[in-house]
Amino acid sequence: MADTVTLNAENKSYEYPVLSGSTGPDVVDIRKFYAETGMFTYDPGFTSTGSCESAITYIDGDIGMLLHRGYAIGDLAENCNFEEVAYLLQHGELPDKATKAVFEHDITYHSMLHEQIHNFYSGFRRDAHPMAIMCGVVGALSAFYHDSLDITNPDHRRISSYRLIAKMPTIAAWAYKYSQGQPFIYPRNDLGYAENFLHMMFATPCEDYEVNPVLSKAMDRILILHADHEQNASTSTVRLAGSSGANPFACIAAGIASLWGPAHGGANEAVLNMLNEIGDANRIDEYVGKAKDKDDPFRLMGFGHRVYKNYDPRAKIMAETCKEVLDELGVKDNALLDIAIALEKIALEDEYFIEKKLYPNVDFYSGIIFQAMGIPVTMFTALFALARTTGWIAQWNEMVEDPHQKIGRPRQLYTGPTERDYVALDNR
Ligand code: SDX
Repeated sequence: MADTVTLNAENKSYEYPVLSGSTGPDVVDIRKFYAETGMFTYDPGFTSTGSCESAITYIDGDIGMLLHRGYAIGDLAENCNFEEVAYLLQHGELPDKATKAVFEHDITYHSMLHEQIHNFYSGFRRDAHPMAIMCGVVGALSAFYHDSLDITNPDHRRISSYRLIAKMPTIAAWAYKYSQGQPFIYPRNDLGYAENFLHMMFATPCEDYEVNPVLSKAMDRILILHADHEQNASTSTVRLAGSSGANPFACIAAGIASLWGPAHGGANEAVLNMLNEIGDANRIDEYVGKAKDKDDPFRLMGFGHRVYKNYDPRAKIMAETCKEVLDELGVKDNALLDIAIALEKIALEDEYFIEKKLYPNVDFYSGIIFQAMGIPVTMFTALFALARTTGWIAQWNEMVEDPHQKIGRPRQLYTGPTERDYVALDNR
């Protein structure tokens, strides 16, 4: 690739440097573009815009590659637990045994919530969406940790990061318990991250509850698959909120809000609702037709991706995990899985989906697994937020530590009225 690109405008030439990373597309450095040309670039949705420099996650959408700090998602999902991946994302290297033990201890011993946080739950209706609770409670954490809000202090950043990673399973599980009218179950220091979450979800004070090891292993792998994903909408939200110097709890609450949308993390819930609406494999053609109809706003949920123009590598692992969980639970004929498999087959053979390179994404199978585990549909995106918190906080730390970091302040193409005289009320 050339070292510079030249733009010719109004009989003038402007040169901009081309920057190369360790792999992936080069970027054109246009930081001086407005000062030199008096024009803005225009890229709503940021389809061609790099917002930052990052060393955390790399995606090659054309070949379906996903790397975290250089390690392929398949290798990590196969060989690591979630805590190892969380450490890798935060610190850049896989931990050795001693370091892993210390990190797991640190996370475990921050999993409890301040007792007064119980009161935040009782302020919600029992049928509040868990993501509404997650937004509220996570944002409120900044009111409890005044000792660690100086984002310029690396120790404050580390303790806040660990608190957020550690407390998200408790916050999410308690949102479920609250919706069920059941008492909160406290985290236990003798359980791993995923196992602790499932224990807090399904244990009751009335009897001992053993988490099925096959299910906790599956949940651990699903959390790994959701941990981070480059500069997606919610991660970009966290970075933009953090660029103003906002505290990490407020930034993660903003990320949760963005993830909630059905075009993003809310898609796993939307997939289940869609499969239930289709209801029967012989209605699939009708819905594929709706998805292809330009005049119909319906989209096949769990399909398509801004970056992947090939199979989402996470979806493949999710599909395998789905079969493992259903086998373990002795679920022989799962109507929703049958519809999903048939839908995937039809879509992947359909010219529209082939031409637009629409493949199943991470959200297509996850909901079937969660439902089989007894997790209600409204909790699906809360699980996504639980897992993605470790990626969000790694990206937030990278942004804060970036010496070139500035407050994010995009411009616009203005199409509103030009200046006009004020008209008094009596004359309107
Ligand atoms: C996640 O960014 C990330 O990394 C996100 C994520 C992460 O880990 O953080 O991977 C998690 O959000 C996964 C995506 C979950 N969302 C869904 O499953 C919702 C359904 N998918 C679509 O809404 C859509 O595919 C998006 C939002 C995911 C991507 O949309 P883009 O990149 O803006 O693509 P687009 O809307 O421009 O679509 C390109 C074309 C369009 O047709 P044309 O206007 O070119 O004729 O493909 C069509 C779209 O209409 N299209 C679909 C479709 N997705 C895109 N048509 C039918 N069904 C779909 N699902």
